[in-house]
Amino acid sequence: MRALASVKTADSLRVFEVAYLGRKGKLTELLKGLASLTLEQRKIVGPIANATKQLLAEAVAYRRTTLGVDEKTPSVDVTLPGIRPPEGHLHLVTQAIAEIEDIFARIGFYRVRHPEVDTDYYAFESLNMPADHPARDEWETFFVTSPAALSSQERGREKSSLVLTPHTSNGQVREMEKGKLPIRMINIGKCYRRQSDISHVPMFHQFEGLYVDTNVTIAHLKGVIEYFVHQFFGATRSYRLRPFHFRFTEPSFEIDISCDVCDGEGCRLCKEGWLELGGAGMVHPNVLKAGKIDPKKYNGFAFGWGVERTSMMKEGLKIDDIRLLYKNDLRFLEQF
Ligand code: FA5
Repeated sequence: MRALASVKTADSLRVFEVAYLGRKGKLTELLKGLASLTLEQRKIVGPIANATKQLLAEAVAYRRTTLGVDEKTPSVDVTLPGIRPPEGHLHLVTQAIAEIEDIFARIGFYRVRHPEVDTDYYAFESLNMPADHPARDEWETFFVTSPAALSSQERGREKSSLVLTPHTSNGQVREMEKGKLPIRMINIGKCYRRQSDISHVPMFHQFEGLYVDTNVTIAHLKGVIEYFVHQFFGATRSYRLRPFHFRFTEPSFEIDISCDVCDGEGCRLCKEGWLELGGAGMVHPNVLKAGKIDPKKYNGFAFGWGVERTSMMKEGLKIDDIRLLYKNDLRFLEQF
C-alpha cells in the first residue's frame, strides 16, 4: 500500500497494477500457489489472499480516480497537430449589407427595418400608385391574401391585400408616419418579384434611402449617390444618372455603374457596358402628403438600389450572373 501511495502517474499505476494483479503478478502467483497447500492451510491462507487481492484492486481503482485517469476515454496526445474545423464566413450579400450600412452611417443615415410582407397600401398606394394603376405591373409582385394578418385599420383600407414587398419603398410612408423630422433613413431588406434571369432573382435585397428636410435639392441627391459610389466602388469608378419615371418621385432617375465584368465594353450581363443598380428621385408631394408631411414646408429625395447587383459590381469580383449568389455552391462562395 505504501508503494501504491508513491505512484504519481497513470503509467506507473499501470506498471504497479501489472506487477501485483497482472497474470504473472505477485498476488496472482500467490493465489496460484494455494493449490500446493494442504486443505487446512488453504482454509486459513485462501480467504486472506482473496481479501488482499480485492482490497488491492479497490485501492488501485481509487488511486486511478485520484490521479484523474479515466480508463474509458483514450488518452490525448496534446503534442499532435490538431484537425482544423471548417471555417465559414459571411455570405457576399451579408458582407455588402454591413458595408452599405456603415457607409451611410458615416453621413448620418440611420438603419431602419420595415416589413418585408406588407400591405398593398404601403407597397403601392401610398406611393402615388392608386389601385389598378398599370405601373404596378412593372413590379411583378407576389400577392398574399391573408386578411387575418391585417390590423383593423389596414383592413379598412380599400384593396389592402398583403404583398411580399417588391421594393423597400414601402418603408417611405411608414417612416414618415413616425412623425419625426428630418428623416435620414436607410431601409435594407428583402424584396420579392416574379423574375429570374442573368440579372434578376426572385428574392433579392434593396437599400432604400430617404431624406426629408427643408430645402432639399437634386444636388443633395447627386452628392449622396456620388459619395456612396466612391466609398463602395472607389473614387475612379464611372456612374451615371439617366432620366427615368417613377410614380413616387419627380423628377426621377436610374443609376448605372460601368460594368466591372467587361470593363465597360459590353457583355451578356450588362449588354452595353453599364449595369443598372437603382432608381432615385425627389419625393413626390403626394407621397409626403400620404406620410402626413406638408409638401409646402418639406421636401426630400429617395433612392432604392439592389444589393446583389451592387455587390457583384465590386471591382475584381467578376460575377457575371446574379443567380450564382444563391446557388449555394461552396466552390463559388468560398472565393469571397
Ligand atoms: C425600384 O424598386 C424603386 N422602388 C427604386 C426607387 C426608390 C426609385 C426610391 C425612386 C425612389 P427598380 O424596380 O428599378 O426600382 O429596382 C431598383 C433596383 O433593384 C434595380 O436597379 C436592381 O438593382 C434591383 N432589382 C430589381 N429587381 C431585381 C431582381 N429581380 N433581382 C435582383 N435585383 C433586382
